[in-house]
Amino acid sequence: MVRSIGYVNGVVTDLADARIPVLDRGFLYGDSVYEVFRTYCGIPFLFDEHFDRLLNSAKLAGMIIPYSREDIYAATHQAAMAAHADAGEDIYVRYQITRGVGPIDLNPEASQGSTLIVIVKAVPGRNPEHYDPGITLAVPELRRNSINSLNPNIKSGNYLNNIIALAEARKSGADDCLMLDAAEQVTECSNSNCWFVLDNKVVTPEDGNLNGLTRRTLIDLYGRAGIRVELRRVQYEELENATECFITSATREVMPVARLKLLDGRCLHFENGGGPRTRLAMGLYGEMVREFVQTHETSRWH
Ligand SMILES: Cc1ncc(COP(=O)(O)O)c(C=O)c1O
Repeated sequence: MVRSIGYVNGVVTDLADARIPVLDRGFLYGDSVYEVFRTYCGIPFLFDEHFDRLLNSAKLAGMIIPYSREDIYAATHQAAMAAHADAGEDIYVRYQITRGVGPIDLNPEASQGSTLIVIVKAVPGRNPEHYDPGITLAVPELRRNSINSLNPNIKSGNYLNNIIALAEARKSGADDCLMLDAAEQVTECSNSNCWFVLDNKVVTPEDGNLNGLTRRTLIDLYGRAGIRVELRRVQYEELENATECFITSATREVMPVARLKLLDGRCLHFENGGGPRTRLAMGLYGEMVREFVQTHETSRWH
């Protein structure tokens, strides 16, 4: 069984024993950036792309990352090895860099260095019901932070906006939220990108969301299958015409949405297990993973 492991500035422990000081700015202010990747058959998936996105988050947040790609590779690898995963078990790896410990002072210049945290655990189990029939989304009243206030491409340790929106959706019986911005444009879910089939075209919102690596991968896979994805603004009122809906993230991959609760209480229903374009996406993604494993045998971590 995979052991859950914590790594804090080089100290590796059981996850339950991992500690950071209360004066760490990651804890005090959510002043941190992070990434999550997973392994497939023991091989880390998109390590470089995640590190590049971390650098972009840090740049947008004006944060200096004093670790090289090799440093992060070594730290995540060290934590992964301590998890003692067997060949058939895959792991979830979250690494987070905070602006470090300092006085209680918002000024980032008050920080003294930075903190590197790695969390390794088993990849979350797949709930079969989330794939067939699929999940329920609800559009909450709460709006996504404006991109002019907090750029969603800063993948930071501050998820309060998403947490409050998720809580509102959960209260209505949904599994996740589908957040709008102040101009009633569709943005994303609490921790995944959203997709629709509108007018027979595959569409995913361009603005107001994190540029998901799963989304990027799937745009490419659809393209190779001869389907052009429209990355564009999506207005809330367009959703009534959607014939399919699904979400994507590194850990959920492609997950169909069976029901979408609208603001006025109405509920849209989609095909159980996903419509044709959703099922195609699930198939293409699964095929890509199998190919990835075959062509990266030598990069196995465990
Ligand atoms: C807010 C948000 N949007 C989208 C995503 C999907 O990104 P990815 O496909 O890279 O996992 C995530 C993943 O954590 C997220 O937190």
